[in-house]
Amino acid sequence: MLDVKKIMSLKGKRKLTMLTAYSYFQARMLEEAGVDMILVGDSLGNVMLGYDNTLPVVMEEMKIAVSAVRRGAPNTFVIADLPFLSYQTSLEKAVENAGSFLKIGANAVKLEGGTEVTSIVDCLVSFGIPVMGHIGLTPQYVNAIGGYRVQGKDQPSRERLIGSSEELARSGVFSLVLELVIEDVSQQITEKLPVPTIGIGAGRFCDGQVLVLHDMLGINTEFTPKFVKHFAHLRSEVVRAVSKYVEEVKAGSFPAEENVFKKEEM
Ligand code: KIV
Repeated sequence: MLDVKKIMSLKGKRKLTMLTAYSYFQARMLEEAGVDMILVGDSLGNVMLGYDNTLPVVMEEMKIAVSAVRRGAPNTFVIADLPFLSYQTSLEKAVENAGSFLKIGANAVKLEGGTEVTSIVDCLVSFGIPVMGHIGLTPQYVNAIGGYRVQGKDQPSRERLIGSSEELARSGVFSLVLELVIEDVSQQITEKLPVPTIGIGAGRFCDGQVLVLHDMLGINTEFTPKFVKHFAHLRSEVVRAVSKYVEEVKAGSFPAEENVFKKEEM
């Protein structure tokens, strides 16, 4: 399994791979496929629980997912996303919640925000809790940003992103997610920063990439932004399989002879 030091040392040597997972079997498959890091993202709210955004997600929901993922991927570096209001209201709450993720097997936590969260990062890092930062489009700020928009388009926004990335690195993040950021801005951040950047919709020059599992597997086909690639088409495959099951049960062709138990076999 990678650790924080190893992840940092891979910057500039090879690209890092990260995907989200929320359940035992998803984690098993990701570990089998050799992904470097699994993020138990608060995107769980969207893709597992059907919320419109990530704001309703609570620690209890995240903890169920984190422990399932740890059981499914015992040998992969797991990062647990701190949900909205689990770290912003006090340092004490941030330490308790982040620490509770480590107690159930996460290797690190992730939190969203720029300069406004550096004191929280300082505090968590000082207590031995590795932190991954997350800037650019930060979905927990959706109401303030006014939608899911590409970041870094104008000079003030570009400067804000660069400034935040530097301050987060100074506070000790071991890695930084850049979400929906103009490619040349994420390239500049990646070149300047001593820690690996992990991009999602942030172009080709980040030190690594992350996607939401349901997006890249073609399960969530309702929202396909430009940066998502469907590496499979599982939604249509699942619908096809379930329709076939419904058809065969109704027709009486499933279960067939080979699917039933008989006294002679026992
Ligand atoms: O919650 C999540 O899945 C994330 C990724 C999009 C980086 O934060």
